[in-house]
Amino acid sequence: MPPAAQTRPRVLSGIQPDFSLHIGNYLGALRNWARDQDEFENYFCIVDLHALTVLPDPAKLRANVLELAALYVACGLDPARCEIFVQSHVPAHAELAWIVECLTPMGWLERMTQFKARSQAQGRERISTGVFVYPDLMAADILLYDADYVPVGEDQRQHIELTRDVAQRLNSLHGDVVKVPQPLIRDVGARVMGLDAPLEKMSKSIAIERPGHAVLLLDPPDVIRRKVARAQTDTEPAVRDPVGPGVANLLDMYAALRGLDSRAALAAFEGKPYSALKSAVTDAMVDALQPIQAKYADLRSDDAALQRLLAESAERVSAVAGATLRRVQVAMGLR
Ligand code: TRP
Repeated sequence: MPPAAQTRPRVLSGIQPDFSLHIGNYLGALRNWARDQDEFENYFCIVDLHALTVLPDPAKLRANVLELAALYVACGLDPARCEIFVQSHVPAHAELAWIVECLTPMGWLERMTQFKARSQAQGRERISTGVFVYPDLMAADILLYDADYVPVGEDQRQHIELTRDVAQRLNSLHGDVVKVPQPLIRDVGARVMGLDAPLEKMSKSIAIERPGHAVLLLDPPDVIRRKVARAQTDTEPAVRDPVGPGVANLLDMYAALRGLDSRAALAAFEGKPYSALKSAVTDAMVDALQPIQAKYADLRSDDAALQRLLAESAERVSAVAGATLRRVQVAMGLR
């Protein structure tokens, strides 16, 4: 790395290779990561250990990791400027997670919204302890790289708070051991809602059960058109201020894709029928996704090269993670 690079703040973020990515993941996460990559030292992880909390089929998990790696690059993350690596390739993640668990009172984890939602849906007796300690593994991901910022969606804020609490606890017990990270939450595109249920955040897992919920990054144009055409609007025949949540979501996506603010998007469609808005949203999505899909296809034509990229990055980041783990181990009395 050139010396100037060392003065840039470091970001770390990650996505679970559990289900296919959708337009919300692009607008809310990947596109921002790619846009900002010159401002930061970039660490982007494929968090396969986290994906185990949904117990994916092993072949599917393996396939999803490569798909996600290719999508990271296809969405604009430049492997020359970003570390792109798989969590389980760096054993320090699991090792630090154990130490973090020993620093985390159960009460903190019991308060996590994601844990509460899954215990409610599936029952505390049935969900794994992995779901419970999930935020501790995420804290380990972040702390290992001394990340300054963690770009995430609003739904992850609580996990970053927990990471900060653990980091502060460790530092107050044993001196300055780890860096206390900050969340980096963007409002543009931060909350893309479900096409079929605009009060629900667009979700990868819901899209499995209800395909009309989300446009996937690898959907062909005709599928995009069909999904957007069926998106929920309201009973008005045309776009009128104030718009309902479904129309607001379409306008927000249009604005984000075309680089407008929401007011300008509303002004562009005020009084026009929903079909006009939907066809403009479709075109904007196709325009954004076509180059991504072309690049993706190109990358997937050489999976060996993709695997090599992941392996090389894992090797480089292991040095950083190993140094932090060592520091924590010494502070805890393990070394
Ligand atoms: N929990 C995050 C999510 O569901 C994924 C994640 C795992 C992550 N480890 C991370 C995000 C570290 C940022 C930093 O979106």
